[in-house]
Amino acid sequence: MQTFSTIDSMRTWCRQQSLEQRTIGLVPTMGALHDGHLFLVEAAKQRCDHCVTSIFVNPTQFAAHEDLDLYPRPLDEDLAKLERAGVEAVFLPSAEEMYPQQEGQTATTVQPSSVALPLEGVHRPEHFVGVATVVLKLFQAAPSDFAFFGRKDFQQLCVIEHMVRDLNLPTRIVPCEIVREPDGLAMSSRNRYLSEGERERALCLSRSLNKVEHAFREGERDTKRLESILAAHLSDCDSVDYAVVVDRESLLPMPQVMQNAVALIAARIGSTRLIDNRELQVD
Ligand code: PAF
Repeated sequence: MQTFSTIDSMRTWCRQQSLEQRTIGLVPTMGALHDGHLFLVEAAKQRCDHCVTSIFVNPTQFAAHEDLDLYPRPLDEDLAKLERAGVEAVFLPSAEEMYPQQEGQTATTVQPSSVALPLEGVHRPEHFVGVATVVLKLFQAAPSDFAFFGRKDFQQLCVIEHMVRDLNLPTRIVPCEIVREPDGLAMSSRNRYLSEGERERALCLSRSLNKVEHAFREGERDTKRLESILAAHLSDCDSVDYAVVVDRESLLPMPQVMQNAVALIAARIGSTRLIDNRELQVD
């Protein structure tokens, strides 16, 4: 497994693979890897000749009061996991490499589509500008045929799909299923912040999504009623930023579920903010 810390060296390696007719699958991560990330790696390996994983805790997607400094960075463990998973190359840029100082200037950023505005966009207003910008920069540093993203960060996936469509980027996005612990908790690097008691309480997110999916399957289509089922099962949370059923494409509210929808939750257990979701498919 090779590691690259500069954009030039990473890009040269990717270009060489392309010249040799090898396809590349990119798995962008912020490290603290868990089985959800390794599932993306596996999907990339199945679909492409080579898998490149990036590990970069992107400062621009964290607000000043968020957990950038505390964000886990177990680099040696991460590299061992990627080596075992058979990843060919890891991109490990520094913040200075990704964001060189622009003396007296602000840097160019990506303005995401309107799908970035509701939900996370309300609670973390600058977040998706940071995500879209860094993902575009990662695509430039590691030019790849495919890039693999988990459906757990559902709105992030929509933002990236729109960016690729709107900016005519050549990389194809491959959405991958949410990976859950056996008891239903969606895997997340932030789960490691949870105490034993908090982890138990965090199960209410997946439970409430199970209940809403069940009601939907039984024929419930009234959004308010579906949302009250979600809310009713989230009492173990310390606070709920949103628990909604919205249109699958626009992420906007709708009174009745007439087309594909998605139930999305963002809630805090102790001081840890967790997100989870469930797509609701109209037959
Ligand atoms: O989902 C993540 O881990 C991050 O938001 C991403 C896509 C790697 C960008 O920093």
